[in-house]
Amino acid sequence: MTATVIAGIGAYAPARVLTNHELEQMVDTSDEWITTRTGIRERRIAGPDEATSDLALKAARAALDHAGVPATDLDLVLVATATPDMLFPATACLVQHQLGAVGAAAFDLSAACSGFIYGLSVADGFIRSGTYDTILLVGAETMSRVVDWEDRATCVLFGDGAGAAVLKATDGDPRDGAPGVIASRIYSDGSAWDFICQPGGGSRLPPSPDLVDRRLQFLQMRGNETFKVAVRNMERAAREVLDDAGIKPEALKVVVPHQANIRILNAVGERLGLAESQVVVNLDAYGNTSAASIPLALQEAVERGRVEAGDLVLFLAFGSGLTWGAALVRWG
Ligand code: ACO
Repeated sequence: MTATVIAGIGAYAPARVLTNHELEQMVDTSDEWITTRTGIRERRIAGPDEATSDLALKAARAALDHAGVPATDLDLVLVATATPDMLFPATACLVQHQLGAVGAAAFDLSAACSGFIYGLSVADGFIRSGTYDTILLVGAETMSRVVDWEDRATCVLFGDGAGAAVLKATDGDPRDGAPGVIASRIYSDGSAWDFICQPGGGSRLPPSPDLVDRRLQFLQMRGNETFKVAVRNMERAAREVLDDAGIKPEALKVVVPHQANIRILNAVGERLGLAESQVVVNLDAYGNTSAASIPLALQEAVERGRVEAGDLVLFLAFGSGLTWGAALVRWG
């Protein structure tokens, strides 16, 4: 059978570090509040000349190098982002051009913080159906361009970054010990679209001086409600994917969750009965980087030897939409 293997990964975070102490000078907050409520200590901020495609490109090049795959081999460039360079064309097309991925298809996928898992699920479908052999999946965000730097409830949470994976077709059954994607599930509930949204700038509220006066071009979030649904839905998605594969949580080497809030990760870990050592956490250094957070955390875990060939890795995410999902992979 044909399966999808992660052949290479790469990540990039901008050089500029913004600490909680610096935020204390910008809004009415404290390092103590931010660390105890979220676990975040600092985040990276894109430079004035850096847009989402620039971050994506650096992560993509690193992933292609890691996989030993030339850009000309790519059949599809898929960029998961909520902060594209422009509303159109797709950021994926800009990346496709810069990489020299001549002839590849390219599109963006909008599932906010769940973007990487949505992308993995879509790419896995293309590969298993025989449509494509080699796909570049990037999660990239410049959240700093859409957060309201006057709103302490949201501006302390987010950061910029990018992570990428090269996905390739392989022969073998991941349920039977071969490397690859074993199972994935993605979900949505648009009835709660306003839990996390950027209301202005699209076709409903096109850019106007009035919109800018009302600060509707910035991200808005109902954090408390989001928190509760996130924990419930991430647990349910994890259990469904593990049940699909007949695997118990204790068999997982690591869970790489979307890095939104340490309290969410602890609550989900507790509900699933996971040991602390099974949950990959790097939000202290990057904050919530939306679609980039899973590949950024994965890259760090692999670099530190926490994931090795044959290990079972579970990806888990929740975000605006609402969207959520889980994917189980046997590392190659
Ligand atoms: N500094 C100091 N005080 C603050 C700050 C801050 N930065 N932010 C909020 N507060 C205050 C509030 O004003 C409130 O004060 P009040 O009690 O006087 O009214 C108090 O702290 C508590 O506020 P809550 O919002 O209830 O705080 P909570 O414990 O829920 O933490 C947080 C807020 C961190 C946002 C949390 O709810 C959370 O992480 N939610 C989930 C976010 C998430 O998962 N998003 C999904 C992905 S995002 C995407 O898809 C793009």
